[in-house]
Amino acid sequence: MKRVVVVSNRVGLPNSADSAGGLVTGVRAAMRGRSGLWFGWSGKVATPAGDTHELVRADGIDYATVDLDDAAHRDFYLGFANGTLWPLCHFRLGLIEYAREQADAYEAANERFARILMPLLRPDDLVWVHDYHLIPLARALRRLGSRHRIGFFLHIPLPPPRALAILPNHRELFSSLLDYDLVGFQTDEDTDAFRAYCRGALGRLVRPDGTVMGPHRRTASGAFPIGIDAAAQQRMAADGANRATTRRLVDSLAGRRLIIGVDRLDYSKGLANRFTAFGRLLATRPQWRSRVTFLQIAAPSRIEIGRYREARRELERLAGKINGRHAEFDWQPIRYLNRGYRPAALAGFFRAAHVGLVTPLRDGMNLVAKEYVASQDPADPGVLVLSPFAGAAAELDRALIANPFDIDGVADALHRALLMPAEERRERWAALHATIARNGAERWQEAFIAALDAAAAPLPFAFAAAAP
Ligand code: ADP
Ligand code: F6P
Repeated sequence: MKRVVVVSNRVGLPNSADSAGGLVTGVRAAMRGRSGLWFGWSGKVATPAGDTHELVRADGIDYATVDLDDAAHRDFYLGFANGTLWPLCHFRLGLIEYAREQADAYEAANERFARILMPLLRPDDLVWVHDYHLIPLARALRRLGSRHRIGFFLHIPLPPPRALAILPNHRELFSSLLDYDLVGFQTDEDTDAFRAYCRGALGRLVRPDGTVMGPHRRTASGAFPIGIDAAAQQRMAADGANRATTRRLVDSLAGRRLIIGVDRLDYSKGLANRFTAFGRLLATRPQWRSRVTFLQIAAPSRIEIGRYREARRELERLAGKINGRHAEFDWQPIRYLNRGYRPAALAGFFRAAHVGLVTPLRDGMNLVAKEYVASQDPADPGVLVLSPFAGAAAELDRALIANPFDIDGVADALHRALLMPAEERRERWAALHATIARNGAERWQEAFIAALDAAAAPLPFAFAAAAP
């Protein structure tokens, strides 16, 4: 069996608890019980960073990581990756900040990753590159002579071609995807956007099976929705029901219903709309006052970026306003926690919650939605309220779908979820859970790696001509 080499900016290092992010959760679950190499950023900023890597081995996986220096952290990670590409791909065109030196730093960071990774590769490795930080990595590896099968998976959404074209260097950047043998996305919608972009902006021929005829190779494309290890999550949640933290949470509710939200604190997650919708529920349906508590756990993320600090301030303001308006001396409507929790603690909280509120304005997949469902007690499950703009909505259509831009609509969905009879909850949950269990992390990994292994060899001649 060929070795799988995972490359991602964020690496799920062993014994590190701070995994707030779907990439680490998904790749960790997909690599469990397998051997391989996982290469990426150490999470440390050191100047100078140097071209060396640190190696750790655990559970059959070699973790090779490199530091970023101050300038790369600022211009590559916080700058072009999270200040330019993140808002672009999450349809927040007004938030895009572009600076040519940051685009250059992004290219340089990819070249450096390639330089350090190249000597670690064996000839028949399958290289699986993840997410928007590393779009040009294959091109950088090819320039160094790599002939490996290299695949790319985008964890976040891909907007339509007209939005991509806003990026001043879009052709330079996105044409580098054609140095991969396989490019994978979360949903059919993202995949269609990629194919349309290749056809239109790059003038490439796209075959009916989704293969893009690039200048040097054929690049296969397709949707590979990421999943979780549903059985492991279910076990963790069943155990979690008896954890001291879960019991303390349940006791503190004093018989009230619980709505839960768990996210990185990111403006794409729609948290301000969510808080407002909960406030609307209390304002328009007074029967819920003193009878329901909303627990929002929001782990700090990318706090060096102004927009993220603004989002945090806005949530503090809203939580204060809603609590100030509706709280009683013995009841606080919103419990807002600005911190992370370990997966086992979260699983217990999910199981205790009557409603899982997952309402991003835009999201590649959203694994929290899947974790919430897998954590439920099959005999008495809670209800998932889900945004149609999360990739997960394409699979989880038996959730209560609520548009986060429609505050009254989300308040209505919460009301309906809180009142839903047990029979309907069980019926919906069974359908959702079957999907999540079928499309798990293992299947995601196997499907992607099989497609990469099967991807066509490079063209024997340069296919430089654009499509007619
Ligand atoms: P994203 O990748 O954008 O962060 P996902 O919902 O796909 O969003 O994945 C988030 C992952 O991080 C999930 O596994 C979730 O359990 C975890 N996570 C999110 N917020 C927290 C938090 N506050 N504390 C601990 N883990 C969190
Ligand atoms: O795709 C989700 C994701 O953006 C990952 O790429 C990323 O690792 C994670 O969320 C968390 O963000 P960060 O790595 O910036 O902490």
